[in-house]
Amino acid sequence: MNANDLLSALKVKKIFGEIPEQISAIHVDSRKVENGSMFICTRGYTVDGHDFAQDAINKGATVIVSEKELDISTENATIVIVKDTYKALAQLVTKFYDYPSNKLQVFGVTGTNGKTTVSNLIYAIMKKLNEKCALSGTIGFNLDGEFFQSDNTTCDTLTTQKMLQQAIDKGIDNFVLEVSSHGLSLGRLWGVNFDIVAFTNLSHDHLDYHQTMEHYGYAKGLLFSQLGQDLTDPKYVILNQDDDWYHRYCSMTSHEVISYGIESNADFKAENIQFYNDHTTFTLHSPEGSFEVHTKLLGQFNVYNVMTAIACIFARGINVEEIVSIIRDIPPVNGRMEKVEVQAPLSIYIDYAHTADAIEKAIQSVMPFKKNRIIFLVGTGGNRDKSKRPSMAAKASLADYVILTTDDPRYEEYDSILKDLEQGMKHSQYALIGDREKAVEHAIEISEPGDIIIFAGKGHEDYQIIENKKYPHSDREIAIEKSKIKFRS
Ligand SMILES: Nc1ncnc2c1ncn2[C@@H]1O[C@H](COP(=O)(O)OP(=O)(O)OP(=O)(O)O)[C@@H](O)[C@H]1O
Ligand SMILES: [Mg+2]
Repeated sequence: MNANDLLSALKVKKIFGEIPEQISAIHVDSRKVENGSMFICTRGYTVDGHDFAQDAINKGATVIVSEKELDISTENATIVIVKDTYKALAQLVTKFYDYPSNKLQVFGVTGTNGKTTVSNLIYAIMKKLNEKCALSGTIGFNLDGEFFQSDNTTCDTLTTQKMLQQAIDKGIDNFVLEVSSHGLSLGRLWGVNFDIVAFTNLSHDHLDYHQTMEHYGYAKGLLFSQLGQDLTDPKYVILNQDDDWYHRYCSMTSHEVISYGIESNADFKAENIQFYNDHTTFTLHSPEGSFEVHTKLLGQFNVYNVMTAIACIFARGINVEEIVSIIRDIPPVNGRMEKVEVQAPLSIYIDYAHTADAIEKAIQSVMPFKKNRIIFLVGTGGNRDKSKRPSMAAKASLADYVILTTDDPRYEEYDSILKDLEQGMKHSQYALIGDREKAVEHAIEISEPGDIIIFAGKGHEDYQIIENKKYPHSDREIAIEKSKIKFRS
């Protein structure tokens, strides 16, 4: 792209050196820089991009965007000084890719729990409607069936804009983004022109980062407040009316709110919910009348998730009746209350619950068909939000027998994690086993016919992070193997 044209995206700037004709690419990681590219110096948690400006020039960068004057020669590169490189990145990269989100129907899903589930449901429904769709979130980047790994639930600004452009190149019209509170508060979504945004719920998580629930709630609210005021371009805000933040989020946007709920009189309201061990049914009252919904997803929390997805697709212009008929065939999302087929008289589920609220919801979802005990295994990550640990175990106590373990211990000792968790236990039927493999084996060892076992916290993940290394680990595989041996005869 023409470099002068690109730089016209910024009003206040100081330029040292001669501006080159063209810019071939934009980078924030000096290792990826190639000839003729622009390098933007952004500050990360541990590294400061300004320290890598010379490196970028050596690799062929011809424009450096920086917040300060740098002690480097302007012979081979132009230095552009701006106030805030993070903001400049959004301005420049969106212009570079010619504002890709304007050419797509972009869905954004935020909330403490349920983002991945709802995003995947939206994707699955769009596919069944024969629409091309892309999805980016915790499970990675799915470009209409082509999979790529990603590091975060919400990717950085550059990656996000690149993914949007890739979708356009592939002729895709719909893009679903899972939106984390980190992503919002760090401005990773600046320049994404959302069309339909949804909120699932808000409960305790990530307070090591956001400090208070107020800050956390407001970070999520940025998704709604940043939708803008242009009402000639209609946008829709899908909100959970049963959540305490509902009214505050309503007041943050001028766009139309479509609500859903079970307790409140919402636009989409579920009634007469029936729970089974492999599906759920309910009556859905909607702006287009009442329909019987049958879903393979389990538990009341998934009734909320299904309604969120239905409301999003309704906002996209599809009839509720058609959406409801499609929902019937959609399987649970990988690792979210997913039933594992085992050769044993047990009901085993893999789940991703790693907050107190999610744990409560996961256990409640199997209560209606409990015949014997509920065994609940849960771990928590090391070196992350420690304040949530006791409340996680307190909710886990709803199960008859609890196994407290770790998920990704990182650099923290097993004992330190287990001690924090143990504080919240409300009864004495539990075991503390730091090594997750042994913990999963223990669950199977002590099980009896008719028991329900939920392995929570790892969900779709097939690894454990110990120190800074990833080791293969699958609750599912251990459970299948162990239960085969135990119930062989
Ligand atoms: N609507 C909901 N309300 C409460 N708990 C839920 C809800 N949906 C899912 N959960 C629980 O939370 C777990 C994680 O679900 P999911 O992966 O969809 O959430 P997420 O918001 O994407 O989480 P993360 O922040 O880790 O990306 C599930 O396995 C389930 O136990
Ligand atoms: Mg997620």
